[in-house]
Amino acid sequence: MKYFLDSSDVNEVEYAFQNFGIDGVTTNPRQLKVIGKKESEVMKELADWTSGYGFTDSGQFPVSIEVDPNLNQWEAIYQEAKRIAGQSPCFIVKIPCTEQGLIAARKLEKEGIRTNVTLVFSRSQAIAVARLGAKFVSPFVGWKENYGEDTFDYLNDIVQIYKNYDYKTEIIVAAVRSGKVIADAAKMGADIVTCSVDIVKNSVYHPFTDYGIRFFTDSWNEVEQL
Ligand code: E4P
Repeated sequence: MKYFLDSSDVNEVEYAFQNFGIDGVTTNPRQLKVIGKKESEVMKELADWTSGYGFTDSGQFPVSIEVDPNLNQWEAIYQEAKRIAGQSPCFIVKIPCTEQGLIAARKLEKEGIRTNVTLVFSRSQAIAVARLGAKFVSPFVGWKENYGEDTFDYLNDIVQIYKNYDYKTEIIVAAVRSGKVIADAAKMGADIVTCSVDIVKNSVYHPFTDYGIRFFTDSWNEVEQL
């Protein structure tokens, strides 16, 4: 399973790339607010960063950039997507899963502009995304769990449906809040998880590991003092 970093901060991207071996990046407007940068600025930083590593297409290192969420008609989404895709060969255009968004995504994919259809919360939305040939679909987990929904079956069914029909759209499990979701996604056979740096770090932490280090340190030091 591939790991994408869910971040608009180029320094975090560099850190995660060097230390976690990430396979791509996903950005969103909430992250822009957190770091206080306009999308145009972040796009420039990420375009420079990918070209600095010599990535020449989105197959090598995909970076999802979200369209302005104020746009709600397909023509405007389509034009904005073309503008984003023109900024870097690594950019994938992130489009919300609305009727108008899906119309735009279908036209873009026909023209070879790769899309990541986001804000997906149901199986039927995920089917529509696969049928239009989007490169990626992003079913959200954490937001549903916040409202008390169990998401295991929802995700597992999407993975199974895609296998049934050999859909080529890759599943990015999004809004991941725990190592459990990462492990569940891998068990189901999802293609990708996208996580913040903190979630990746938490997922490799276990208190017993710390306990074991203390325990072994004591044993080691006792023997060394003999
Ligand atoms: C995915 O592509 C999204 O950017 C992301 O996972 C959104 O959710 P979050 O910011 O609540 O984690």
